[in-house]
Amino acid sequence: MMTEPLVLGIETSCDETGVGVVRGHTLLADALASSVDEHARFGGVVPEVASRAHLEAIVPTMQRALDDAGVTLADIDAIAVTAGPGLAGALLVGVAAAKGYALAAEKPIYGVNHLAAHVAVDTLEHGPLPEPAIALLVSGGHSSLLLVDDLAAGVTPLGATIDDAAGEAFDKVARLLGLPFPGGPPIDRAAREGDGASIVFPRGLTAPKDLARHRFDFSFSGLKTAVARWVEARQRAGEPVPVAHVAASFQEAVCDVLTAKAIDACRERGVQTLVIGGGVAANSRLRALAEQRCAKHGITVRVPRPKLCTDNGAMVAALGSHLVAAGVAPSRLDLPADSAMPLTTVSV
Ligand code: KG4
Ligand code: ZN
Repeated sequence: MMTEPLVLGIETSCDETGVGVVRGHTLLADALASSVDEHARFGGVVPEVASRAHLEAIVPTMQRALDDAGVTLADIDAIAVTAGPGLAGALLVGVAAAKGYALAAEKPIYGVNHLAAHVAVDTLEHGPLPEPAIALLVSGGHSSLLLVDDLAAGVTPLGATIDDAAGEAFDKVARLLGLPFPGGPPIDRAAREGDGASIVFPRGLTAPKDLARHRFDFSFSGLKTAVARWVEARQRAGEPVPVAHVAASFQEAVCDVLTAKAIDACRERGVQTLVIGGGVAANSRLRALAEQRCAKHGITVRVPRPKLCTDNGAMVAALGSHLVAAGVAPSRLDLPADSAMPLTTVSV
């Protein structure tokens, strides 16, 4: 019997340079270099700064991953790399590096979808994903509900955000509360001291008239505006802004909608497994509420540990390993980086 494939994964779609190594579903190394501090003063990721940081970090991060895994490039069976979606210049660094290593070491290369990798990473923690599953993908750039029939072949989008991504809403609300970028972690922390029921913020696309057309879609821009109006009214009245209560109430509105729609999708499709991925899946309230509500409906919820939810190389390696095991053909060595890679494309 062939041993499980040893796969290296490279991630450079946004501000994290990640290189992971997995054998089958076993995580061997997850090396990460982040340029997040360089973007903080701009309140968002600056593409040129991110690309430059990837260029500087890619070789040392690669070396660290191989060292941590106790393997050499010659031992690797395949190299997987995020080919999209993401920032064009940032993706190019990872794709070019992966091609260089693949060519030098004569290894097959897999150009993969970043979002599918956010789903696949859960296999490193909970083993093979039962299919079909419903995936709730919530990150800084994306919020989607997907039906996962066969992760190696493709996923079926059921719904997505019609305006801001969930993570983007966290980042924008943090900014107006004077909390640092990225906003998810500080809101999560501040919310622990607040009451999520203290202010009732709107739940986007949940009214009966919206459900007809947007049952599995999300909208967070109205929520963000409602929080801004609420904070402004306080400031105009010369009253202090109760940051913890606002953070908790905003977070409650987001998590309420995300979990309600994800469970509705599971029930409508008769699916027993919900997997949650992407940076926002690190949110403590989202994790707790998903557990609680899924238990009520007999749905098994799978959420990887927070470090695997945010961008990393291990998730790319996990998807690569899944593709190798499924017998999917590698990509051509001239594979392009595609900043707008559609969700339905798992590998190119
Ligand atoms: O998946 P990710 O690392 O990068 C993208 O592919 O976008 O997601 C980053 C997003 C950011 O918007 C960040 O604020 C959010 O994930 N995030 C969180 C938490 N940790 C990270 N949002 C809510 N709660 C958290 N604990
Ligand atoms: Zn991501």
